[in-house]
Amino acid sequence: MKALITAGGKGTRLRPLTHTQNKHLLPIANKPILYYALEKVAAAGITDVGIVTNREGTEVKEALGDGSKWGLKITYIPQQDPLGLAHVVKISQDFIGDEPFVFYLGDNMVVGGLEKFIRVFEASKTNCHLTLARVKDPERFGVPELKNNRIVAIEEKPSSPKSEFAVSGIYIYDKTIFEAVNHIKPSDRGELEISDAHQYLLDHNYQISYSEITGWWKDTGKPEDILEANRLILEHTKSSIAGTFDRESSVTGEVVLEEGAKIINSVVRGPVVVGRNTIIENSFLGPFTSIGEECLIKKSEVEFSIILNRCEINDVRVRIENSLLGHGARVVKATVRPKTHRFMVGDQSLIEMR
Ligand code: DAU
Repeated sequence: MKALITAGGKGTRLRPLTHTQNKHLLPIANKPILYYALEKVAAAGITDVGIVTNREGTEVKEALGDGSKWGLKITYIPQQDPLGLAHVVKISQDFIGDEPFVFYLGDNMVVGGLEKFIRVFEASKTNCHLTLARVKDPERFGVPELKNNRIVAIEEKPSSPKSEFAVSGIYIYDKTIFEAVNHIKPSDRGELEISDAHQYLLDHNYQISYSEITGWWKDTGKPEDILEANRLILEHTKSSIAGTFDRESSVTGEVVLEEGAKIINSVVRGPVVVGRNTIIENSFLGPFTSIGEECLIKKSEVEFSIILNRCEINDVRVRIENSLLGHGARVVKATVRPKTHRFMVGDQSLIEMR
């Protein structure tokens, strides 16, 4: 069985971070989102993986290489424009061939493995196996209508959802999906919708089975989803100390200090990850915080946040919480008069003041 993983699309809801970086490479607990998908696929015994990328971007290729790091063989499939998930499947037909395959949205994070879904798909002998997750806001997703434990219809982002389930981004198909994606028409937003392909299967009497994801599942489309995914991953992280902390510091809970990380006269309350060569000095790091590599956090307090590589937070008087700082961002005390708030903010940034 092969796997097809998405790493294209626009990432508009994650701007400004995605102005300079593909959203699939944003780190969750200091590891790119896409790595989690590759690990799941490799753990399920799949070795042949197609990755669909934007036409112009090379950064995904640079980050994953040939896949040998995970024991995988990666084939890159460039998508001309982000024309929809069914379009992703359509352009991958030559790579997939006639065998069943796993389709995995590279921005999804899920606890647990793929093996059980593959087993149910094989045992049920259906044409398509979907994974459903109960959510508070089904209108953001593909939503199934269920009758007598069977999926009878599927709608993409409906204004009046017919159930409290989202179709999550892990799908297993046999070759009939290619008939579907080659017959459907673009939606009003101009995309070939994967939900329309599923509806095509239902309309043509192909069989769809499903499993419910009972642990957690996250689509990391929005900043709050990224922070929540970070929380969920950190919740399962175990301490590992390659860096150092001095006698004046208090380090409690599960804390990862990567090599060269230094905690000086600070309080670190895990779960927290501190990246390579980062310095935390006279500061407080609260739970569910991931700090990237080569950052400096000095005389400041940071909690429930993701701070990317090479950031500086220095002498900031209010606790920074619920925040995402892009590479090299600096939040520092004003040193020249008048001591006002001064901003040098990139396109589509967000600053919330108390
Ligand atoms: O996360 C689950 C949801 O994913 C499903 O419930 C929906 O039915 C499905 O349409 C999809 O909705 P999203 O609006 O979340 O899809 P998004 O545009 O965020 O794209 C999902 C992934 O596919 C992401 O890795 C980006 C990539 N992508 C997307 C498009 C439209 C591509 O590689 N190419 C594309 O053309």
